[in-house]
Amino acid sequence: MDFNIVRIARVVMNVTDLNASRDFYVNALGFIETASSEDWLALRGLEEHCHHSLLLKKAEKPGVHKVSYKVWEDNQLNALESFFTSKNSKVIWKEPDRSVGMGRTLCVEDPSGIPVEFFTEMEGVERCIQKYDLYRGARVQRIDHINCMVPDVEAAVSFYTNELGFRVSEYTATEENRTWAAWLHRKPTVHDVAFMNGEGPRLHHVGFWLSDPMSLIHCCDVMASMGYADNIERGPGRHGLSNAFFLYVRDPDGNRIELYNGDYLTSDPDFKPIKWDINDPRRQTFWGHKAPDSWFNEAISFLDLETGKPVEPKKPTLAQRKPDFVT
Ligand SMILES: [Fe+2]
Repeated sequence: MDFNIVRIARVVMNVTDLNASRDFYVNALGFIETASSEDWLALRGLEEHCHHSLLLKKAEKPGVHKVSYKVWEDNQLNALESFFTSKNSKVIWKEPDRSVGMGRTLCVEDPSGIPVEFFTEMEGVERCIQKYDLYRGARVQRIDHINCMVPDVEAAVSFYTNELGFRVSEYTATEENRTWAAWLHRKPTVHDVAFMNGEGPRLHHVGFWLSDPMSLIHCCDVMASMGYADNIERGPGRHGLSNAFFLYVRDPDGNRIELYNGDYLTSDPDFKPIKWDINDPRRQTFWGHKAPDSWFNEAISFLDLETGKPVEPKKPTLAQRKPDFVT
């Protein structure tokens, strides 16, 4: 493999009102605002030393422009271009956009139809991990993962593991031993990306890492006191899968953000993927409480790299089940 993907590094998505988003993400959740314009808002977590991990663009409708992975060296972007060209993927180079701190990027479409970006260079900014006076809300530290609904999980897992060098940390299997969902990583945590069986491709959520569960609990109090109680969708709770302590919130446009901590190290070469039976309810909520229907049914469209129009979702390969069975 002529490239080394380091980690998930940013998501670029639409919001309809930047001021509403600023209040939600900065004042309630505790992101740091790196920069903004009339058209966009660049946000990062407290420990992040790069320009942003979430770029919100002003638009009339929600939609996800791309999910971005950091690559070890700039020349590896050329290797990725050759690779994706050989797979007949859409391949588009983007010139450096210094206004948002970006060097050149390579945009492709993965086999599920997800617009994926690779880059090496992003402007460095101050790391605020010890600026405790800036800690607010959930004290968001860094981007952790994305979770996508895709129509063919097995094909997505095969591509990301065999072709891009990802490793599986945990997965859910059906009675027929078909892979229903899988958690894949490049950095040595449970995941950078998860794929779930469902109508897609659609972005289910973006996960951000917190340093401790009390930050998550405190965020619930802050959200409630600011009038955002209805934006709390699911949790707090503990996933069996990944052992994550979680809270799912919806931003003012319905984009879903997971506040997340409690997972574990996956660096060892002899780490064996953990299998969960699809009939084991502990995998989705270890404590047993149910998730709301919205969590299973609602996700955000990806936008086509070339046309900017929503990517048409396809029906899932494996038959859908009662919502309780989706992880
Ligand atoms: Fe997640």
